[in-house]
Amino acid sequence: VIAFFQPKLLAGKKLLITAGPTFEAIDPVRGITNLSSGKMGFAIARAAREAGAEVTLVAGPVHLPTPRGVRRIDVQSAQQMFDAVLPSAPRHDVFVATAAVADWRPAMSAEHKIKKDGSGAAPSIAMTENADILASVAALKDRPYCVGFAAESQDLLKHASDKRLRKNIPLIVGNLGPATFGRDDNALLLIDASGAREIPHNDKLSLARELVREIAARLSTQVS
Ligand code: CTP
Ligand code: CA
Repeated sequence: VIAFFQPKLLAGKKLLITAGPTFEAIDPVRGITNLSSGKMGFAIARAAREAGAEVTLVAGPVHLPTPRGVRRIDVQSAQQMFDAVLPSAPRHDVFVATAAVADWRPAMSAEHKIKKDGSGAAPSIAMTENADILASVAALKDRPYCVGFAAESQDLLKHASDKRLRKNIPLIVGNLGPATFGRDDNALLLIDASGAREIPHNDKLSLARELVREIAARLSTQVS
């Protein structure tokens, strides 16, 4: 019997992945969040693990099982996600940001439930911007290979290309929403310095495996 030993594509590599939405508290019973099932990020974690990588998945509030062999850190807010990611990012080879991070949080979170005052008036909630986790990782001196995601409702190529340049990352993955949100299938547009290529419509695990192959290929010819 001739046995071929095929080394796994991401053997020895460490991947850090964010997934899901974040939740920004207004008071103990209310908050602001984004639409995100977390399915794409979890599929990428699984595919990367299958490809031999050591995978850490930083997940916002989602209802998904942890892929086998993946280390999972659960967080709620964008700030908690930032704190879980930034210090450990330089120890990783790849950072994949799939999370739908809330762009703003209430400037102050009330300690107790905000009550109606009976006047019919609604409270106004002052908001403040959350730090950009992906751009912050990409700005590190010792940065991993950074992959961003861009869900857009229109002009996908333009918006995603602009985002890639603005965040100074080598690769961004675009998808058109919100029709795809929460679904098990999707199509992806990969954009790097050399142009754009579509990964045609497929289930998210197949897309994730294809994306992992694309990332592995780029790691071996590191141009960022
Ligand atoms: N991202 C992040 N931290 C944030 C906002 C976004 O890490 N505070 C990451 C997302 O995980 C994604 C990429 O940045 O990989 C693009 O997110 P997106 O929301 O599309 O871009 P923004 O820069 O927030 O622009 P906008 O929402 O205005 O389109
Ligand atoms: Ca955003």
